[in-house]
Amino acid sequence: MSGEESRNRLWNEIHESFREFVLPEDNQKILKANLRVLRTEYRSMNNSSLSPRFSSKDMRDAYMVAYHPGHAYLSHNVLCRISEELAYQEQKNYTVTVLGAGCAAEILAFLQWAITRESVCEKVTVNLVDVQDWTAQRKIGLFPLVNDYLESGFLEIISFQTDVCSSNGRELINQLVPQSNLVITPALFTELTDDCRNKLFDLVLKALNPTGLLLIMDQSEVSEFRPWIENKSKHVGKIAVIALEDLVRRVPGPPIWLREQVLDGTDGLIPRSKYKWTWMLCMARHHL
Ligand SMILES: C[S@@+](CC[C@H](N)C(=O)[O-])C[C@H]1O[C@@H](n2cnc3c(N)ncnc32)[C@H](O)[C@@H]1O
Repeated sequence: MSGEESRNRLWNEIHESFREFVLPEDNQKILKANLRVLRTEYRSMNNSSLSPRFSSKDMRDAYMVAYHPGHAYLSHNVLCRISEELAYQEQKNYTVTVLGAGCAAEILAFLQWAITRESVCEKVTVNLVDVQDWTAQRKIGLFPLVNDYLESGFLEIISFQTDVCSSNGRELINQLVPQSNLVITPALFTELTDDCRNKLFDLVLKALNPTGLLLIMDQSEVSEFRPWIENKSKHVGKIAVIALEDLVRRVPGPPIWLREQVLDGTDGLIPRSKYKWTWMLCMARHHL
């Protein structure tokens, strides 16, 4: 199966996972109203606040329906571009830690990518870290999709709820990152203050093991992410940049039922069709 076919399959499977949740008419009304709010919050991110209110279950539900599939699609695209570098094929046990995991779009992408590899890997352990409780959304948009891997023992998912900028969060990072082959921070840095994202970046780099990889990806134009990451990539004393790329990607249209029921093209409910994404894969230089 080509990368494109894999991504399209993933796109369809994720949408199917929340179809029943969207189906009841009452849910549709609530989702539409909340999605309009979420979009307004995203639009004002650079001005009044840094993050949509993911503390609200309504915002998390709306995110799952309108953004989770797109983020999985883009993550898969990025993973396909760094297949050689990820060293997944050579490890019996592979550990991925995700900071700012949400509904874990990137883990769905990772598994979709991993199953197309010839590999000696027998077990993937995933640590999901987020300040909010995404249990309800993961029950719909994550676990049913990976159930076979969980049941066979190939996959283990461990969830942690903590603020990565707090002292508990820092402790957790110091515990999880050294054991990780890959650390992903997907769409997290745009939601942090400058002080917090600089400290977090340094902390993760310091905690990475000699072969550990850090994959940062986010929306290029939000919260000055592009200049921030560009600046970080120049800290050659601290990091070895393996790749840095701007990716402009179209995503497929949502299925007809979702267009009819929620993303109907009216104000605030236009399906997202294009993402401007920047990603960087790096290692810590203090080990080199
Ligand atoms: C845009 S969502 C990304 C979710 C998922 N990774 C994706 O790409 O679809 C950003 C996530 O970062 C989390 N987040 C924001 N600030 C955080 C912090 N200080 N500590 C931990 N998680 C945080 C939010 O709760 C939210 O789930």
